[in-house]
Amino acid sequence: MNETLEVIRSRRSIRAFKPEQINEEELKEILEAGIYAPSATNKQPWHFTVVQNKKLLNRLSESFKELARKSEDDYVKRVGENEKFHVFYNAPTVILISGDNTNHYAAVDCAAAMENMLLAAEALNIGSCWIGFIAYLLNSEEGKEYLKELGIPEGYKQIHAAAIGYKKVNISKALPRKENSINYIR
Ligand SMILES: Cc1cc2nc3c(=O)[nH]c(=O)nc-3n(C[C@H](O)[C@H](O)[C@H](O)COP(=O)(O)O)c2cc1C
Repeated sequence: MNETLEVIRSRRSIRAFKPEQINEEELKEILEAGIYAPSATNKQPWHFTVVQNKKLLNRLSESFKELARKSEDDYVKRVGENEKFHVFYNAPTVILISGDNTNHYAAVDCAAAMENMLLAAEALNIGSCWIGFIAYLLNSEEGKEYLKELGIPEGYKQIHAAAIGYKKVNISKALPRKENSINYIR
């Protein structure tokens, strides 16, 4: 099979990582893939923040869980109550993508950048998991101080995040995909 198609097929959400850090070259390649994503009218309404500070990642996870415990959503609440749960699965690198509040397509463009990065990671045999949960915290009242600490630019809000690191597990089997989601009109 074509190499790119193979990467698309084999990417899985990885939720267990080795503690060692990915190397700088690999990190650069992943970020570069992000910024080469398409964006509506080429506005590139994104900002990438790489966090490799374990203490900060742990604090973010604990604050997320504290907030999750107050959620009215049962699933989110249970996640917050799970002592073992870490919102980034203890990955050594987390990339946050924040989006320009004034751009209508920011969430879509940032998602395109995110998927490019996950595929680049897979191409390098690096594990990744898209983390939507952390936006609950970072876009909340409690998250405001973190936005400052993280240096998220004024006028940007947290949109997507990825946990990245060397895979501790290899998942080859994809979760079942919905059938009948394609219609042909010829
Ligand atoms: C917008 C979005 C948000 C997600 N947020 C989370 C998350 O917070 N935590 C998590 O473990 N997985 C998260 N995922 C990963 C999905 O659970 C995963 O992609 C899906 O179950 C399919 O599995 P696969 O990625 O292995 O194909 C998210 C995926 C997307 C697209």
